[in-house]
Amino acid sequence: MKIDGKVIWITGASSGIGEALAIELSKRNCKLILSSRRESALLESKARCSGEDSNIAILPVDLEKTQELTEKAIEAEKIFGRIDILINNGGISQRSLVLETELNVYSRLMTINYLGAVALSKAILPGQIERGEGFHVAITSLVGKFGTPLRSGYSASKHALHGFYDSMRAELHDQGIKAMLVCPGFIKTNVSVNAFVGDGSSQGTMDSAQENGMEASVFAKKMIAAMEAEKEEICIGGKEKIGVLIKRFFPGLFSSMIKKAQVT
Ligand SMILES: NC(=O)c1ccc[n+]([C@@H]2O[C@H](COP(=O)([O-])OP(=O)(O)OC[C@H]3O[C@@H](n4cnc5c(N)ncnc54)[C@H](OP(=O)(O)O)[C@@H]3O)[C@@H](O)[C@H]2O)c1
Repeated sequence: MKIDGKVIWITGASSGIGEALAIELSKRNCKLILSSRRESALLESKARCSGEDSNIAILPVDLEKTQELTEKAIEAEKIFGRIDILINNGGISQRSLVLETELNVYSRLMTINYLGAVALSKAILPGQIERGEGFHVAITSLVGKFGTPLRSGYSASKHALHGFYDSMRAELHDQGIKAMLVCPGFIKTNVSVNAFVGDGSSQGTMDSAQENGMEASVFAKKMIAAMEAEKEEICIGGKEKIGVLIKRFFPGLFSSMIKKAQVT
């Protein structure tokens, strides 16, 4: 798929991976709609982008307010007349044990990470089907492929994205709709700082895995190359990616390994 010149809606564009994607895609003459909750941070992301000012629009969106998302999608479509590519990237992680996590935190993780993406995809599908093409990218995680300690609700929300987009692709491929699932490993962003702990407050500190992880700008370049190649699923990260293969081919070994994973 040719990315240059496409109309691309990116959620979670105020920070980390989403901002890095916006910066890279702006070099490709794309028309971008940048969304997240914090308008001021979105404006800062926009300021770091290249190209013409009129090619980049800001649309504040709170993925937790699912009842507003259809209307937001209509607004997004009106900005440049269509959405060619939706990058469902906005999300929140978790660092808390099952026994210490309030049920409401599970509900919020599922709403923001899963239902928010589903709502936006569903809202833009009719226009894309009419035009005969559309590309949905969901940023999941390596923990969308296997569960690890401290991320029970986050991992569940990312697994859910795999189920939804694999099904959607199978249903709509003959109407020109494509879907790609992207599973990042450890990427150097604020994801662990912003992660929910058991009572829904933020962890507030950076994990060493993210601190030493892949730069978001490197991740963005690899992901855009995967979009161009129309991959259906890709893992992007460092040596932690091996977990997916161990789980798939040696599930018993993986289970023993993950039980010994550090619960901190
Ligand atoms: N970094 C990693 O190691 C890693 C690994 C696996 C998967 N991921 C996934 O990558 C995606 C991007 O995360 P990141 O690493 O770039 O972390 P980040 O720097 O914390 O960025 C998260 C983004 O999501 C937005 N967001 C959070 N809650 C939102 C809500 N309720 N409504 C709308 N937007 C919301 C944030 O913007 P506002 O605060 O302005 O709303 C921010 O732009 C996430 O889906 C994350 O799960 C990251």
